[in-house]
Amino acid sequence: MGLRVDKVRKDFPILKKKVVYFDNSCVTLKPKQVVEVMNKYYYEFPACAGRSMHQLGNKVTEEVAKSREVIRKFINAKRKEKIIFTRNTTEAINLVANSFNFKKGDKVLITDKEHNSNLLPWQLLAKKGVIRLRVLGSRQDNTFNIESFEREVKDVKLVSIVHTSNLDGVTNPAKEIIKIAHKNNALVMLDAAQSVPHKEVDVKKLDADFLAFSGHKMLGPSGIGALYGKKELLEKLNPFIVGGETVKESTYTSQVWEDVPERFEAGLQNYAGIIGFAEAARYLSKIGKTNIEKHEIKLTSKLTNGLEEIGDVSIIGPEAEKRNCITSFNIGKEDPHQIALLLDNSANVMVRSGAHCVHSWFNKHKIKGSIRASLYIYNTEEEVEYFIDNMKKIKKLLK
Ligand code: ALA
Repeated sequence: MGLRVDKVRKDFPILKKKVVYFDNSCVTLKPKQVVEVMNKYYYEFPACAGRSMHQLGNKVTEEVAKSREVIRKFINAKRKEKIIFTRNTTEAINLVANSFNFKKGDKVLITDKEHNSNLLPWQLLAKKGVIRLRVLGSRQDNTFNIESFEREVKDVKLVSIVHTSNLDGVTNPAKEIIKIAHKNNALVMLDAAQSVPHKEVDVKKLDADFLAFSGHKMLGPSGIGALYGKKELLEKLNPFIVGGETVKESTYTSQVWEDVPERFEAGLQNYAGIIGFAEAARYLSKIGKTNIEKHEIKLTSKLTNGLEEIGDVSIIGPEAEKRNCITSFNIGKEDPHQIALLLDNSANVMVRSGAHCVHSWFNKHKIKGSIRASLYIYNTEEEVEYFIDNMKKIKKLLK
C-alpha cells in the first residue's frame, strides 16, 4: 500500500495549524508517537543506563539496548557491527576525524559539495598538519565525478563524502564509490544525514566503513544521532571524548577501556532522545522507504514544474527525479532571505534560505545562496500548489 498522507498528517498535531512546513532537510516535524515515548521516559523511568542496579536503571539499560537494535536494523547493519549514539551527524564525523589513527600526511578526500560538518573537522586536522585534505570537484551538472575520483583516490586513506546532498538533493553513487575506494585500500565514511530519512540505506549492501546520521531529520528528536562503523575499525579508533562509562576501570595512572560502542559514549546520555530516535525509525519503517521516495519525487516534480512556469527561476542541480525531496532555487537576482521571509510572513510557508551550511560551494560558484524547499511524508499536493501560488504573488510584488 502507498503512503496515506491524510492518515500520517493526523499524527502531527502542529499540522492542525495553518502551516506549510517545507524545511524538512533542516529539521522534520515530530509525530505524537515519538513525543509520547520520550514523555514516558521522563514520567516513568527517568534514570540512566549501564550504572545503577535498581529497577529504573535496569529499565533504561533495557530500552537503550532495544533502541540500538532498532537503529542497527534500520540501516541493515550486521549484528556484530556497531551503532554509537552521538548528538548528531556533526558529532559523529568529528568523532571519526579526531579518533582515527592517521599517520602524518595521510590523505583525506572529500567533495566540493560537503556541508560544513564534513569540511571543517578535516580542515582543522589539515591545519594541524595531521592530514592532507583534497577536495574533489563535481561535474559541470553538479553530480559526482567518478572518473576524477578514480584518479584521485589512489593514495587516499579515508574518503569522507556526503551521500545525499543537502544543497541540491542529489544522491552520490555510494556503492560504486565504496567499491572503487576499497580497491585502492581507502576507507569510506558517508554523511548520510539527508539519505537515511528518505531512502533505503543498507550499510551491508553499500559496504560502508562508517556512516553518520541524525534523529532530527527523520521525525526524531534533536540532540541525538548515530555513527555506524565496522567493529574492527571502531576498535582501532582512539577514544576521543572520555569519562563515565567509557572505561571498565581506572587507577590514578591507567585505565581499561570499555568495549565499543560504550567506549565512545562518555557521560550520561540523552536517553529520551535515544528512545525517541528508535521510535522515529519504527514509524518510518512502517511507512516504507519506497513509499517515501515515490511520494517525494511526485511532489518535487510538481513543485519544479510550478516554479518553471513562474519564469526567471534557476534550480540548483539536475531534474526533479534526481533531487528526491529538495528544490534549491533562485528567482533572478532576488535575495533568498527576503523571499523566505515573505513566504513566512504572508503565507505561513516555511522554507530555508541562504547557504545551507555549504558556504564553500556557494563561494566557489559566486552565488549568495538559495531558497530551499524540502518536502517530507506529510506534505501534500495542495500545499505545493499553495506554495506556487504564493511564489507567483511574491514574484509580482518584486517586479
Ligand atoms: N544540514 C541542515 C540543513 O541543510 C542544517 O538545513
